[in-house]
Amino acid sequence: MKTENMNRAYLDRILDGSQTDFYYHFGISSNEALLERLRGVRAIVIAGSGERIRDLARHWSILNHGADILEFPKEERFVTRYTSGILFASHGMGMPSASIAVQELMRMLYFLKNGDSESMDQVFWVRVGTSGGVGLPGGSVVVSTAGLMSDLRPYRLLRGGDGEYWFNGTFPALTCREIIAAGAENGQEVIPGKTVAGNDFFLEQFRLDGAICFETPEARAEWLKQLYNNGVRNIEMEGAMLAGYLNHWGFSSFAMICSTLLDRLQDDQVRSTPEELQVFSEKAETVLFNYLQSSLLEQRPFRTVSGDDKDVRMPGPASPDWERLRRAAVGALDSSYSPYSHYPVGAAGFTLDGRLVRGANVENASYGLTLCAECSMISHLCSTGGGRLAAVYCVNVQGKVLVPCGRCRQLLLEHGGPDMMIMTPQGVRTMADILPQPFTTENIKNY
Ligand code: URA
Repeated sequence: MKTENMNRAYLDRILDGSQTDFYYHFGISSNEALLERLRGVRAIVIAGSGERIRDLARHWSILNHGADILEFPKEERFVTRYTSGILFASHGMGMPSASIAVQELMRMLYFLKNGDSESMDQVFWVRVGTSGGVGLPGGSVVVSTAGLMSDLRPYRLLRGGDGEYWFNGTFPALTCREIIAAGAENGQEVIPGKTVAGNDFFLEQFRLDGAICFETPEARAEWLKQLYNNGVRNIEMEGAMLAGYLNHWGFSSFAMICSTLLDRLQDDQVRSTPEELQVFSEKAETVLFNYLQSSLLEQRPFRTVSGDDKDVRMPGPASPDWERLRRAAVGALDSSYSPYSHYPVGAAGFTLDGRLVRGANVENASYGLTLCAECSMISHLCSTGGGRLAAVYCVNVQGKVLVPCGRCRQLLLEHGGPDMMIMTPQGVRTMADILPQPFTTENIKNY
């Protein structure tokens, strides 16, 4: 990270509590308890429209077994949702609007991650949107390799004390490749290409159908040809700024994935039906979710499950990094409070969205009130964004695997479900194996 490029003179005052930060356009401040629940954020997904944000969050929640969706109180400017490790936020249209969202989200992230470079860099930023294709028909999905302005140069702010400020508009090549690979694994073609961000949907995208038009059909054709010959595959309105700012702050992984609504070589007007447009938009969304699931979880292979009328690949009961989980459980032993039994226990779990949660046992003078390590791990889970547990490891003070007690099996089942994997002295088992015929919410419903 390039923390020297962050406005630390301002941001550090929020961290030391000498000042409150008001994220005005999101209608929330650094004092609000709601933000505490976002500390485990792993990805920031931005999109132009508020309705899209609601849909994306709903869909991600379904993929994460109905994880709670948190809403920011104000939706006048931007719509914001948080569920299962992902902060979803709308940014409106165009770079002036989106730059407000990106700057305020960055301030929020700095606060949530206590200004820690490593934790901030683990957060993946992505814009998912729509665009005009350049030589690509409607319904293509483009992952941007670079964000340029309409003169094919990187993003710049025109006015500032020192004249023009220039920002590097390149998107990280490795992330592009990973998105293409995740798409290919799921049978989806994702096309890499440069993306031009126009400051005006009509004038800076060389349309002839605006209420103001400066271009001739020849100039329009010449501009689009120049774009195509320079590797530009789509046109939208935010990417150059997004890449520029994220590079400036030094993030190592971020991306932009856009569906095309039309081929600009053929037309200026978007003529597809609302149903067709919906299908086009969802294609980019599916590419994004497949990538998020593979990258945030690092668990393969996948199995296909149906969610919200769409088939989406979910991490299967494959191979979490058990050694990493065991080390995390051993690390958690340090937090054990076990003055009565002198039997420290540590537990660690991966959530389905790839977070690591941990806990240790906390005893009490009234022995029966003792909290097992699994209890504090689940408390960690709930206080860092909730979601579902995918794999759990419990250890004793020698780092040897332990099985959870009866009560904890019940707790784990509620937060991991019957497919959750658990390490036992006999190897990996599922919750269904170690807690057959469980008492669940179904029993409460059907009394
Ligand atoms: N968004 C844009 O900015 N341009 C298009 O042509 C389509 C969507």
